[in-house]
Amino acid sequence: MRVGVLTGGGDCPGLNAVIRAVVRKGVRDHGFELVGFRDGWKGPLEGLTMELGIEQCRGILPRGGTILGSSRTNPFGIEGGVERIKDNLAAHGVDALVAIGGEDTLGVATKLAELDVQVVGVPKTIDNDLSGTDFTFGFDTAVNIATEAIDRLHTTAESHHRVLVVEVMGRHAGWIALHAGIAGGASAVLIPEQPFDIEKVCAHVETRFESEYAPIVVVSEGAVPVEGGDMTLVSGEKDAFGHVRLGGIGDRLASEIEARTGKEARAVVLGHVQRGGTPTAFDRWLATRFGLQAIDAVADGDFGTMMALRGTKIARVPLAEGTGQLKVVSREEYAEAQVFFG
Ligand code: F6P
Repeated sequence: MRVGVLTGGGDCPGLNAVIRAVVRKGVRDHGFELVGFRDGWKGPLEGLTMELGIEQCRGILPRGGTILGSSRTNPFGIEGGVERIKDNLAAHGVDALVAIGGEDTLGVATKLAELDVQVVGVPKTIDNDLSGTDFTFGFDTAVNIATEAIDRLHTTAESHHRVLVVEVMGRHAGWIALHAGIAGGASAVLIPEQPFDIEKVCAHVETRFESEYAPIVVVSEGAVPVEGGDMTLVSGEKDAFGHVRLGGIGDRLASEIEARTGKEARAVVLGHVQRGGTPTAFDRWLATRFGLQAIDAVADGDFGTMMALRGTKIARVPLAEGTGQLKVVSREEYAEAQVFFG
C-alpha cells in the first residue's frame, strides 16, 4: 500500500513527531511505502511530492515546523480541485492519505472522505479548540512559551511599577490565555468567549497596585470588549461568534489602561513565537501516539476517522466530530479561575 502524508494550516510544534511515527510504523510494521505531499492540500492538488522514508525522518522529532511544509489551500474553493486531487493521487499510486491539520485541513478531509477518498485525520492546533479530542498537540508547547514569558514579565513589571499586557494567540478560544494565565500567576485573563468590561479591568489594575503588585494582564488575540461599553472598536470584521474583531488588542488595551488609570502600561505580543521551535515532551508524546494510531487506522481500513485523546487513551472518532464545532472555554472553566483574576 502507498500512503500519502500532508500537513496543513498553521504550523505547530509536534508535526514532525507525527510524520516520523507514521513513517516508522508504516514501513516497519505494515510494509507500506510512504510519500510526502508538500504544503498541505496544495501538494495533492498540484502533484507536489517528496520522498518520505525512515531516512528523511531522522533527527526530526525535536524539530518544530514541518518537513513537508504547510499552506491554507482549500481545494473546495478551487474549481475542479477535488477532481485534480483524485487524479494526482491515482497518478502517484497513492491509496490512502494521512492528513494532519486543524479545523480547515480536517474539514477538507471530512468532505473528501464523503467522496470516497481514503483518508484519516490527525488533529493539531496550538489553540486547542478542536472538538472530539481532550487536547491537540502544540498546545502544551504554546502554553509553556507563554508561561515563561509571563514569568519574565513579572520582574520587569514590578521593577518599573508598570502594567504588562501579554497578547497570546487564540482567535476564537481562550485556552492558551487561560492555561498560561493560571500557570504564570497573571492578575487578569481576557478571552474571546467572555467579552470584557474595560472599567472592571482598570479597577482591578488599580487594586493590584494598592497591594504593591504590578499587574500582568493576559489577553487572547480574539478577545473583545463588551458591546455598549465605552471602549470603542476599530474594525467591523466579525469573528465566528459574531463578535467584532480588533486588530492588535494587546496594544489597544495597554493604551486604554494607561489613559484611564494613569499607570504606565506596555504590551507584549507573543505572536508566532508560540508556534515555533522545539515541542515539549508532552507534545512529542501525544503527536507520536496520534501518528502510530493513524497509520494503524489506515492498515485497518478505518477511513473517515480522526485520532483523538480521550483521557489517556487514543481513540478513533468520525472526522466530522473534530470539525463540526469549535471547543471553547466554558463559563464554568473561566469562572473557576476568577479567584486569581479580577
Ligand atoms: O490557528 C492557529 C493560529 O496560530 C491562531 O492562533 C492564529 O490566530 C493564527 O493561527 C495565525 O495564523 P497565520 O500564521 O496565518 O497568521
